[in-house]
Amino acid sequence: MSQRAVVTAGTGGIGLETAKELAARGLDVTVVGRSAERGARAVERIAEVATGAPPRFMAADLASLDEVRALAARLAADGPLKVLVNNVGAMFAERERTVDGIEASFAVNHLSPYLLTELLLDRLGAAAPSRIVNVSSGAVKVAKRTFDNVEPPGGYYGFHWYGRAKLANLAYTVDLAERLRGTGITVFAADPGGAATDMTDGTMTSPKIVSPGLRLLWPLVRRAFERSTAGPASVAARPSVFAATDASLDGRTGLLIGPRALPVPVPRSATAPGVVDDVLRHSRRLAPLAGGAVVPSR
Ligand SMILES: NC(=O)c1ccc[n+]([C@@H]2O[C@H](COP(=O)([O-])OP(=O)(O)OC[C@H]3O[C@@H](n4cnc5c(N)ncnc54)[C@H](OP(=O)(O)O)[C@@H]3O)[C@@H](O)[C@H]2O)c1
Repeated sequence: MSQRAVVTAGTGGIGLETAKELAARGLDVTVVGRSAERGARAVERIAEVATGAPPRFMAADLASLDEVRALAARLAADGPLKVLVNNVGAMFAERERTVDGIEASFAVNHLSPYLLTELLLDRLGAAAPSRIVNVSSGAVKVAKRTFDNVEPPGGYYGFHWYGRAKLANLAYTVDLAERLRGTGITVFAADPGGAATDMTDGTMTSPKIVSPGLRLLWPLVRRAFERSTAGPASVAARPSVFAATDASLDGRTGLLIGPRALPVPVPRSATAPGVVDDVLRHSRRLAPLAGGAVVPSR
């Protein structure tokens, strides 16, 4: 029976700690990242604790939809997949576009995991009971829930746009769980809380990342960021590991696992009428499963 697990952005930060724990529990782990050097170092560290097959690294820039498709093809060729942890995520201090011309927060935090998941459903089904874990964030709580367009109206505030992309992914996660009910593939979101990682190092130091209202309270907001992202990545990995492996979740699906590694209520914004329909519409148009032209909307 397949014991294969994939952790995206698994060569550093919370992803590496997640990969180490899964490998220690006997899963055959493949980690994905951009840098081959970081990948080689990660594989060495995971191998120190692995109790199953030797860990592997696959290179892909998950900000590129073509690279996501190529990665999915390589992973699918390896056969059934027991666990997929979509851990990739990023916050951009300045507005950026990906190589596909798509706003980067939405592309990296939602479209990339959406596309990889959809392309691997067949392989996950072949290993059922199997699990998908999408890494979320507390930032969904300050996110605009309008998804008429890919980019929300108003100015660019990195933290809020990041939260909105994570909200899109959470709405997709809950919907996917329902779609897959009864197939043996279960779907969870995991909120790591916060940790000191490359993502938080330096990106949360400018008041420009929050909306003008919150900028007035910047000293307080900054202290809150510092406090919540001071902990170790190994602790922030616990919700993902729990979601991917804990026996108490057998037969359950569509749950959000909170920072204390226990189920917590899904924010109502993720199930608000219209949100999932809009998110799916953008996802299917921008990241068609068969590839093809992407026409970003501004
Ligand atoms: N840290 C926090 O406080 C916090 C709080 C809430 C939620 N989260 C979420 O937790 C997850 C992990 O966060 P983290 O803080 O560990 O992030 P991180 O420190 O930025 O993660 C580093 C890992 O991501 C890989 N990576 C970055 N961009 C990539 C890309 N475009 N394609 C492929 N791999 C990429 C890096 O490898 P390469 O550089 O080699 O590509 C490395 O393996 C994210 O989804 C994040 O949104 C984090």
